[in-house]
Amino acid sequence: MLKPQITMIGGGMIAHDQILPSLYQLQRQDLIGEIAVCAQHGRTIQALADNAAIRRAFPGHSFRGYPDPAAGADAKDSSGYQRIIAAMPPRQIVIAAIPDQIHHDVIMTAIRHDQHLIAVKPLVLRMDHAAEIEREARSRNLFVGTEYHKRFDDRSLLARRRYREGMFGEFKLGTARLMEKWYYRNSNFQNWFTAENSDAFTYIGCHYVDFVHFVTGLVPVSVSVYGIKDRFPNGNEGYLWTDARVIWNNGACLNVQNSLSFPDEAPGSNTQGITMYFSDGERGAWLDHSDQYRGIKYCYTRRLGIDGGTVFHEPSTEYFQYVDLGGPGLACAGYGFRSIDHLIRAAIRVESAPGAERAAILMEIDDAGIIATPANSSYNEAVIEAGRLSLQNGGKTAVIESGEPPRVRLI
Ligand SMILES: NC(=O)c1ccc[n+]([C@@H]2O[C@H](COP(=O)([O-])OP(=O)(O)OC[C@H]3O[C@@H](n4cnc5c(N)ncnc54)[C@H](O)[C@@H]3O)[C@@H](O)[C@H]2O)c1
Repeated sequence: MLKPQITMIGGGMIAHDQILPSLYQLQRQDLIGEIAVCAQHGRTIQALADNAAIRRAFPGHSFRGYPDPAAGADAKDSSGYQRIIAAMPPRQIVIAAIPDQIHHDVIMTAIRHDQHLIAVKPLVLRMDHAAEIEREARSRNLFVGTEYHKRFDDRSLLARRRYREGMFGEFKLGTARLMEKWYYRNSNFQNWFTAENSDAFTYIGCHYVDFVHFVTGLVPVSVSVYGIKDRFPNGNEGYLWTDARVIWNNGACLNVQNSLSFPDEAPGSNTQGITMYFSDGERGAWLDHSDQYRGIKYCYTRRLGIDGGTVFHEPSTEYFQYVDLGGPGLACAGYGFRSIDHLIRAAIRVESAPGAERAAILMEIDDAGIIATPANSSYNEAVIEAGRLSLQNGGKTAVIESGEPPRVRLI
């Protein structure tokens, strides 16, 4: 594979905050070719193309946008991605960055058109959909990776290494939180993050479920999620507050709280972290990650000109920042970039190998367990399916039964 074309479906927050600038950086490094972005509305494409921070960081870089904003800001095309993907040469890369409930359609469209695929988390919302993706991609020797960027935070990688060296003993109890800012309620989220489609645990709790497996190798066996509904400004209702309890196959218990509630005036873009307690049978062990605060405190002369910008700010240099390395423009730093870089390189590695070697490379990626793939991370879909079932039944426990096929049921 020379330089793959990249088509990103979705041009919203995650596309803007992390994926497009990361792709531009890879384009600057000559790793990838042309970039196309397909959203639902012309205005989304226009806003992404006009974004001042991205333009400042990547002068001279651009993408082809669909629908064409010249046809009108409100031009809407919900099925245009099918046409755009069908028109790509085979075995390039599609990135799915659309709302959770349409991941499956977009991903399957890409795979059926012989495209390698990177999906923002969660891959899909159902175990049978994840199994279908795995099967279809495997039969075509296509790479599929889910973008769980916390895996590329050095603290996650260090915790994983220390746990696997036996330094912590065995995981017993954990408590995690990830609260996004209140202003998210005013965003496009109010159009799709509704009770029938998603919830705070599905949206962001999955990061810490994935983290616990990534570090310990344990798999979840039951889930209960209690949710509180709240109204978005447009009147739509969503589970904007959730409290989840996940039991693991060694009997350990993880509690995860999520919401769209962190005050807009609080410093930093969210509050998040995890504490885990372990034992080797003779002594206890402990891990405490403060994931929103990286030891930086700034008080500016005026409000920072970004969504949710504050005067007092605790920036994180870990997830994603632009830094000046002498130009041209600015460079992306942080695990948000490293994650995209790693996934794109994996797809290129598979495609660049002779056909007969691709299956072995895909298995090597699955077995390494660093990149989340349908084959090594289907516990995430199991937890989401069980969590949704529990949430819609007042927080009753849903068990994940392994088997062919695995299934979830309330007890
Ligand atoms: N921490 C994380 O890993 C993280 C953070 C944010 C979002 N996400 C995930 O990214 C996905 C998108 O979230 P977001 O925050 O960017 O949401 P968003 O609402 O800001 O953007 C959604 C985008 O999808 C596009 N879209 C919707 N339907 C479409 C269609 N039929 N065809 C083409 N485009 C369509 C919209 O135009 C919009 O650009 C979700 O799955 C979310 O869970 C992950």
